[in-house]
Amino acid sequence: MSTVYLNGSYLPVEEACVSVMDRGFLFGDGVYEVIPAYGGKLFRLSHHLQRLQNSLDGIRLDNPLSDSAWQEILAEVLERNREQTGTGNDQSVYLQVTRGSAAKRDHGFPDRVTPTVFVSSNPMAEPDPVIATQGIAAITLDDIRWQYCDIKAITLLPNVLLRQQATEHNAAEALLVRNGLVIEGSASNVFVIRDGTILTPPKGKQMLPGITRDLILELAEQHALPYRETDIDENSLQQADEIWVTSSTREIVPVTRLNGSPVGDGMPGPIWKSMIELYRGYKDAVRNGAKN
Ligand code: PDD
Repeated sequence: MSTVYLNGSYLPVEEACVSVMDRGFLFGDGVYEVIPAYGGKLFRLSHHLQRLQNSLDGIRLDNPLSDSAWQEILAEVLERNREQTGTGNDQSVYLQVTRGSAAKRDHGFPDRVTPTVFVSSNPMAEPDPVIATQGIAAITLDDIRWQYCDIKAITLLPNVLLRQQATEHNAAEALLVRNGLVIEGSASNVFVIRDGTILTPPKGKQMLPGITRDLILELAEQHALPYRETDIDENSLQQADEIWVTSSTREIVPVTRLNGSPVGDGMPGPIWKSMIELYRGYKDAVRNGAKN
């Protein structure tokens, strides 16, 4: 049984309960983060905590904890769940803050309500080796989400519906298109490789600024791999040499079939192979305490 943190207490997940009046339950009024930890070491923690702060600012909710208090709680949850992870101790931490529960359901912000703070962790398996040989299938869908997609809000119904539509088309991800431009995946950022250059859409309110995305651009810069942040036309997708989707839990995944047609030669491409090696090298450095 795993241990979670809820509003100041560590307790077995089965015993953790929130009120039915919680605004996260009633309105999806809250934000979250997903943070990998390799060998018990939190990956890019300061970036995740900064994005959490930006999300809280975006929904006008005070951060209930200092960065050091967050760090302490996350480390404690990881430590308490360590036995479930085997020797590698790779876990992903989920944290959520909601606007708390008020006496009555009302859309407007309640007065003097304590936010609900929840943290859990789960063992993280090594990425499926089949992905490295075959990649995944994706489909394009209209981006039906709202206009503040830079906020990591728990209100994920559009993402859930989009991902389910992909699943029902035997695809592992939906690439979302708004005004003819590819924005990101239903739970990932997107990269396109053309003529040896790594391309990804620029940040803005239309997409989540992925921590994995930023690290990929950093690694490209450090290793002199050509890259550019630029709008990506939906129509240019079929001409891509490679397409990747990226996230904290799935790392960098090559998309080898798009809308039923092969991407490039239909196999994970050479630039993906270079980048995943750099990414794994960075992960190992985090595990060894050389980077964070
Ligand atoms: N989602 N875009 C969306 C819409 C996402 O939901 C995610 C990640 C990303 C990638 O962000 P990062 O590299 O920081 O994980 C981009 C998480 C993993 C989730 O909802 O479970």
